[in-house]
Amino acid sequence: MADLEANEDAERLGRLMRSRFSCRAFLPDPIPEATIARLTDTARWAASWSNVQPWEILVTRPQTTLKLAEALTRLASARAPTTTDVPYPPGFTGVHLQRRREVGFGLYGALSIQREDRAAREAHFVENFRFFGAPHVALVTMPADMGAYGALDVGNFLACFMLAAHAEGVATLAQAALAQYAGTIRELFEIPRERVFLCGVAFGRADMSHPANAYRAPRAGIDEFLRFV
Ligand SMILES: Cc1cc2nc3c(=O)[nH]c(=O)nc-3n(C[C@H](O)[C@H](O)[C@H](O)COP(=O)(O)O)c2cc1C
Repeated sequence: MADLEANEDAERLGRLMRSRFSCRAFLPDPIPEATIARLTDTARWAASWSNVQPWEILVTRPQTTLKLAEALTRLASARAPTTTDVPYPPGFTGVHLQRRREVGFGLYGALSIQREDRAAREAHFVENFRFFGAPHVALVTMPADMGAYGALDVGNFLACFMLAAHAEGVATLAQAALAQYAGTIRELFEIPRERVFLCGVAFGRADMSHPANAYRAPRAGIDEFLRFV
């Protein structure tokens, strides 16, 4: 009986993992705060090194989301100098560059954006700062002195948060793009210097009639990264 239950859980989890996707067109309807609290209450059970739980999230209400979108869109459209807290990777090479290109072109394909249409690609990028119309964004920080292991813990929390949201019918998009303007986000929400801004997670109900949400990113097979030794 215990085995049967475990299999049901594994199947359900597998279905949730495979059906989650990054949403890039949201409906404006707010998510009830009780739902947001419930899915966060599930995500808080994420494991972390020595159980330090270094994550903190600020969740914007729709009015605040709009104000933040205005401020960030102004910066992004003007190509204002970036103020990241954590440096971006200097670049991608090899298979990682290949996968990055594949997902980029796949998404542009779904949106009927031609490769050479720089203006349309730029406009799509700027949409990040409107959170693709999401009513909420979770602004994710961790203590500045925790380095890569802190970020590892936060990443694990985010995976749990996004899966818990998906289980509630709430679509999400993790957004490292927002970290370009970490300085502005820190100022607007009085985030102290002792914490670094890592990324945002836009969330709300998915607009399934939008072509952006028809795209599904592929995955490498396990033979590409799993070795038994
Ligand atoms: C930490 C992190 C940051 C991301 N930042 C962005 C972002 O700024 N903009 C965006 O459109 N997608 C962003 N994504 C979404 C990824 O592109 C997406 O997860 C990946 O292509 C796999 O697709 P899937 O989530 O639909 O399975 C981010 C994902 C993660 C985990």
